[in-house]
Amino acid sequence: MEQYAIWGGNPLVGEVEIGGAKNAALPILAASLLTDDTVLIDNMPDIRDINVLLDAMKGIGVVVERLGRHQVKINAAHIHTTAIEGEGIRKMRASYYFLGALLGKYKSASVGLPGGCEIGTRAIDQHIKGFKALGAKVRMEHGMIITEAIDLTGAHIFLDVVSVGATINLMMAAVLAEGLTVIENVAKEPHVVDVANFLNSMGANIKGAGTDVIRIRGVKSLHGSEYTVIPDQIEAGTFMMAAAITKGDVTVKNIIPKHLECISAKLKEIGCEVQDSDDAVRVVASRVLRGTQVKTMPYPGFPTDMQPQISVTLGLSAGTSIVRESIFENRFRYLEELSKMGANVTIEGNVAILEGVEKYEGAAISATDLRAGAALVLAALAAEGFSTVDHIHYIERGYEDFPEKLNGLGGHIKRVTNADELKRARLKVV
Ligand code: EPZ
Repeated sequence: MEQYAIWGGNPLVGEVEIGGAKNAALPILAASLLTDDTVLIDNMPDIRDINVLLDAMKGIGVVVERLGRHQVKINAAHIHTTAIEGEGIRKMRASYYFLGALLGKYKSASVGLPGGCEIGTRAIDQHIKGFKALGAKVRMEHGMIITEAIDLTGAHIFLDVVSVGATINLMMAAVLAEGLTVIENVAKEPHVVDVANFLNSMGANIKGAGTDVIRIRGVKSLHGSEYTVIPDQIEAGTFMMAAAITKGDVTVKNIIPKHLECISAKLKEIGCEVQDSDDAVRVVASRVLRGTQVKTMPYPGFPTDMQPQISVTLGLSAGTSIVRESIFENRFRYLEELSKMGANVTIEGNVAILEGVEKYEGAAISATDLRAGAALVLAALAAEGFSTVDHIHYIERGYEDFPEKLNGLGGHIKRVTNADELKRARLKVV
């Protein structure tokens, strides 16, 4: 019955440290299977998805040594199988990264079908298209995706869809293949570049990550590495938006401003003051916010993973705002929950129209997926009165110490696990 119990109405003020990027750390862990040497990874977020992946790696014989909350030493020299499954693995989209890594190293991989958030069909046809282009066979059997190859040979692959997962998976499958692989129409997200940098630190030969074309020249083997994961662009953006929606003043620290440019630009557009320094960004939202238009796009466009967070903010911004979700087909389910708080929103296909209201009222709401859950917490912190958010397991998949960081900024949010704790939180009994 875990829930967040939230008293809203306090502007968030102060500083918050951002952790390592979930969507870089997950594929980097999988990529560590590509060498028999030891790999040391630092600045890993301590979140459920990471821990599920590490447990699955241990399950196939990878030696995993936690040197600290955010640091892990890995050696995959003696794995005993290339088949990975289990309930946790099937629930997590990032499990498919084992396909690229194990196929790339052992020419064989079987992984339980990927799950993930209910934000869309989450196809993997582009991954499969790329594996086949490299010379692998792919089949589905009893809910497992199985891919095998006699040899992997470099190929020229043109992705039909800009896909983060397919771009990363095909990089991993191609690093040890014979010859040159060229992948066109690739994703350019910071986490894609981070994975390419990690692979190159292991001796891979990858050029062009962060542009529309990635070239991978296969090498004989990869060696160990010590690597630090980049800061999480979406965690940072979530706290920047938290400052905006609560009319606060928050400095987000340990970030790369370049990765946040599209989010900073939108915050300025709606009336926030945004000040960059070399590893921090400050968002001040004293004035009434203005509505605007948002269209989610692949990087460097506005991230789909920030769509719920800006939408709940626009629900309290003056005027009419239009949000177009162009990446996923079902990423507005949370707006029904927001309406319970008094939002004035209509949905027409992949477009949400938000008429700004004066305030949200506290309510009992449910997280529908990872980013929507975080966004509804922001809405509850901005609302007048008391709210509860349930299904918080979605949120804890991807945000480390979310309540603690928000309370550190003056929020009132408590994780409750039973009726008595809920009652005490509602009465503000600490
Ligand atoms: C990654 O998912 C992220 N997850 C998502 O973040 C993020 O929303 C997404 O990239 C887009 O930035 C991880 O990195 C673990 P895609 P991924 O392949 O790789 C379609 C979060 O909140 N597509 O870029 O699954 C797909 O259906 C999560 O941290 C195909 O059609 O996303 C979608 O409409 C949520 N065929 C679009 O492309 C394919 O083979 C983008 O998907 C692959 C994708």
